Amino acid sequence: MTEPTYICASSDLTDDTSRGYRLEAVNLLLVRKKGQVYAYRNLCPHVAIPLEWREHDFLTADTSLIQCANHGALFTIEDGLCISGPCNGQSLIPIAVTERDGGIYLKP
Ligand code: FES
Repeated sequence: MTEPTYICASSDLTDDTSRGYRLEAVNLLLVRKKGQVYAYRNLCPHVAIPLEWREHDFLTADTSLIQCANHGALFTIEDGLCISGPCNGQSLIPIAVTERDGGIYLKP
């Protein structure tokens, strides 16, 4: 059985913040909202390029949505659905993660 891959400490991802990582050749982004961790591939469905405008910075100023810095697409944090922008109706690709013992892990 394959072990989960460590991503970061739980304390690195506080509420209403985001982080970006490259693991196992996959770029991913993490967001914590109301204590829950959400993870997606860092790949905009519009042009298939990374979303952030600055390292670890994936959220709108009010931290309510994930934003693509390239052409302004907006995605819900809870399900990665694009609700505004050129890829409206498309979604970020979810990544399965788990949180335990003070760490966040990629599920095998
Ligand atoms: S690449 Fe994300 S909106 Fe265009």
